[in-house]
Amino acid sequence: MCGIFAVVNDKTGNAAQTVLAGLKKLEYRGYDSWGIAIKPTSPETAKLQIEKHIGKIGEAQTSLPAGTIAIGHTRWATHGGVTDANAHPHLDCTGKLAVIHNGIVENYLEFKEDLIKKGHKFSSETDTEVVAHLVEEKIKNQKLTKAVFETFNELVGSNAIGVIDYETETIVACRNGSPLVVGVDEKNKQYFLGSDVPAFLKYTNKVHFLDDGESVVITTNEIKLFDLKTGAEKKLSLQTLDWKLEDAEKGGFSHFLLKEIMEQKETIAKTASVNEKEIGEIASLIKQGFKIVLTGCGTASYCALAGKYFFAKAGIESQTYGSYEFLPFSKFIDKKTLVIAISQSGETADTLIAVRQAKKNGAKIVSIVNARGSTLERLSDIILAVGAGPEIAVVSTKAFTSQLATLYLLSKAAENKYDEGKKQIKELKETLTLWIDKLSTRLIGLAKTLVDQEHIYLIGKHLNYPATLEFALKLKESSYLHAEPFAAGELKHGVITLIQKGTPCFVLASNDEVKGEILSSAAELKARGGRIIGVAPFKSSEFDEVVETPDLADLTIFGNIIAGQLLGYYLGIGRGADPDKPRNLAKSVTVK
Ligand code: G6P
Repeated sequence: MCGIFAVVNDKTGNAAQTVLAGLKKLEYRGYDSWGIAIKPTSPETAKLQIEKHIGKIGEAQTSLPAGTIAIGHTRWATHGGVTDANAHPHLDCTGKLAVIHNGIVENYLEFKEDLIKKGHKFSSETDTEVVAHLVEEKIKNQKLTKAVFETFNELVGSNAIGVIDYETETIVACRNGSPLVVGVDEKNKQYFLGSDVPAFLKYTNKVHFLDDGESVVITTNEIKLFDLKTGAEKKLSLQTLDWKLEDAEKGGFSHFLLKEIMEQKETIAKTASVNEKEIGEIASLIKQGFKIVLTGCGTASYCALAGKYFFAKAGIESQTYGSYEFLPFSKFIDKKTLVIAISQSGETADTLIAVRQAKKNGAKIVSIVNARGSTLERLSDIILAVGAGPEIAVVSTKAFTSQLATLYLLSKAAENKYDEGKKQIKELKETLTLWIDKLSTRLIGLAKTLVDQEHIYLIGKHLNYPATLEFALKLKESSYLHAEPFAAGELKHGVITLIQKGTPCFVLASNDEVKGEILSSAAELKARGGRIIGVAPFKSSEFDEVVETPDLADLTIFGNIIAGQLLGYYLGIGRGADPDKPRNLAKSVTVK
């Protein structure tokens, strides 16, 4: 939800180009508009120069002049429509200060009225612009750093900002609730600021993830870390990430989505080699009688639901709430509750709200996350980092399957069968690899027959129910097709009225205890004229056609879901959607 990027001491001397390239890597965070502010090496006026445009940044070019210090932003609109004027960075009245921002300044209106009375001229409808004018006001009596700290401490809401000052050639960035990370290229003395690491991974993997209440002050000479409340300097210790540049590049694939779907040949099995100690620790808490509550949003919420089925199979009761509907039930969360929060980014606002409430009630927090250094990690007692690598496409695929595999391992560990689970996950690798490679041709053919459809219905039962929800979400997100999932048992309670001659109906199934029942539901759909497309490791006379998936017992849902990911991708291409950046969505929704 909005991407921030900045560079100081750009060694190419073309900081605007560097910022533009960095923003392209952050486009998944928002793609309504983009903008850059730079201090030119040879300024014509003593002001920052700015360029901003609505629309996607993918093919954008910048005509900004040479310079070595610049900031930039890619926007997911909250306050104010999608216009050039509302695009960031936002300038103060002097044109010497510019601000980029991720979050919502909840109290911006009270500042705005006061600032207007003091003579400040606003040129946008955003909440962000008040920050530029507030700093401008405070800088009259004090140094930049203090002025920014004071301003930031007055903002209500979850925010991250970056402020560039023309005069002192300084960038001050502050964090409270929205992600910020700095990267240091020690060799070239280049400093970077980003909402996420892929933005500057090309230059350095030495990073510091800012904590809430921290600020970094970057000048041409140095980078310093501060505590925002006390103003005291803190020791900046950098960590070295093991991410490779290829992780944040398309690597020959036409889209990140396709690349990330294919990477699952490796990433799922990888989860069997990490987190063993942590999984053991959590299993022991479950055995001590901790009750389990799973939570997440979007794809992660379906992962949570699948986890509930895994635990039930292991004979363990658990509860699942979408994080956005968590609060009414939070009163049932206590010291003996294990709240398992699932999130790719670890920054989803609704998930964080749920976790903070659970923490207040004394619960133990376990997070199953993919991105590193997130707010969710910091709130957690135990972290299960799934290690799928940077996921750039907005639509979650490889992070989801790694989270699912992790939950499976956890449920197995809780019934003292961890080694068996580990073996099963490892064995998935070969079967999935052989199968995925052949899947594309089959799904391209299928996508061609579905591309002009308006509605698709899907059913699944037991473990295939959450799989169906996730399958449908992939189709909706990637191709904008109306895909409606149902529990097979729900079918006869109203849904069946929607089925007419030729209506595409997907039936997700496994060779499990409910195979017969799901095939009966398929027959009911077929009797109403539905076109029945099975997604299953077997053929059946109830299916008009089938996408055959590998038979992996409880893990069959991995193949069933991957078929949905890839079908969504090809349908998206066929329907003219951008599979990496679906309209209106942001990868990480950091606002309520
Ligand atoms: C947004 C994305 C979804 C994602 C959800 C949760 O809504 O569009 O694709 O599943 O956030 O994200 P998280 O980072 O918490 O897994």
